[in-house]
Amino acid sequence: MEKPSAQHHPVKNKRRFRNTLLKWFQANAKSYPWRETTDPWSILVSEIMLQQTTVTSVLANRRFENFLQEFPNIKTIAIASEEKILRAWEGLGYYNRVRNLQKAAQTVLHDFEGKFPSDAETLETLPGIGRYTAGAVSSFAFDHPAPIVDGNIARVLSRLLDYHKEVDSTEGQKIIWETATELLDPSKARLFNSALMELGQTICSPKSPTCLICPVRNFCQTKTPSCLPVKKPRKKFVQIDEHAFFWFEKNQILLSKGHDSRRKGFWKLPLRSPEECAHLELLSQHCYTITHHKVTLHLYHAQPPHLLEGEKYHLISELSNLPIATPIRKILDQKAMELGL
Ligand code: ADE
Repeated sequence: MEKPSAQHHPVKNKRRFRNTLLKWFQANAKSYPWRETTDPWSILVSEIMLQQTTVTSVLANRRFENFLQEFPNIKTIAIASEEKILRAWEGLGYYNRVRNLQKAAQTVLHDFEGKFPSDAETLETLPGIGRYTAGAVSSFAFDHPAPIVDGNIARVLSRLLDYHKEVDSTEGQKIIWETATELLDPSKARLFNSALMELGQTICSPKSPTCLICPVRNFCQTKTPSCLPVKKPRKKFVQIDEHAFFWFEKNQILLSKGHDSRRKGFWKLPLRSPEECAHLELLSQHCYTITHHKVTLHLYHAQPPHLLEGEKYHLISELSNLPIATPIRKILDQKAMELGL
C-alpha cells in the first residue's frame, strides 16, 4: 500500500508535531538502563558505547552495567591504568574511545572541579565528545534544550523534509541540525530527543519503514522513504596480509605488545615480514575485519630467531587477564582448542 500523504509540515506545525511524537513515545518508550539515570558520567558511557555497538548487544552482555561497576564515577577511571581500561572495553572495538573517555573524566575532574558541564558547547570541548555526544549528555542528563542528530535521527529528518541531497555533506549536516534544533521541544528535551531516536530505531527503519503505523505520518513529506537518506559513497576496505609466529613452550605463548596505530596497547601475535616467513610451513590462515581493513593473517608454527622490542612470553592461563584484540583472542581460543593447550 502507498505511503499516506502528509497534511501538515513538521516545521510549520511544530507544536502539533511535538505533541504527536511525545504522545506516541510516552505510550511506547522502551526501557533501557541508561534511561533510568540522569548521572552525566553514566549517560556519557552509554553514548560512547552505543556509537559502536548495537543496543541489543550492549544489553545482552550487560556491557553498560559491567563497565559502570568497574568505573562507577570519573575518579575511578581517571586513575586507572591503560591495561585496566582496555580490558574493561575489550570486544567493543575502537579503543581510542575508552582512552578519550578516561581523558574526558580527567578533564572534568581537574578543570571543572569534578562537575560535568551541562551545556553542549562546553561538553564539546572535552576529549572524544563531538556534537552528537555533547547534545546527548546535555539533554539526557540535564534536560537542557540541546538538539541531537545521529544516524537514526538524520534518516527520520531527511524523510520528514523529503531532503534528497547528501545528509553527510556540510550543507546536509547544516540543514539536518537546523531542523533538529527547530523541532526540539525546549521544555522536554530529554523526552523529545529520546522519542525522535526511538522512532528512527523502530518505525522509521532504513529499508522497510512501517509508515502506515507511524505516529507522524501526517507530517512526513516524502513519498519515497526507502530512498532516503542520500549519503556520500562509502569508503572502501583495504586488503592487507599479515604474517605472525604462533609459538608456545612450557605453558607459555609468545605475544607482542603492539605499538602500531591499529590495536595500540593490545597484545597480539608477533608479526614478521613476508620474506622472513617465506621458507616456513604455514600453520593456518585467518580472515577478519578491523576498521576499514580486511586482514588475512598467516600463522607459522615456528620459533622466531630473536625477539623484538615488546615481545614477551605469557602464561596461557594468564591470557584472560590481558588486553587482546577480539579477532586475535578468537584465533588464540581456536588454536588452544585444536592443540589442546
Ligand atoms: N543509541 C545511542 N544512544 C542511545 C540511547 N540513548 N538510547 C537508545 N539508543 C541509543
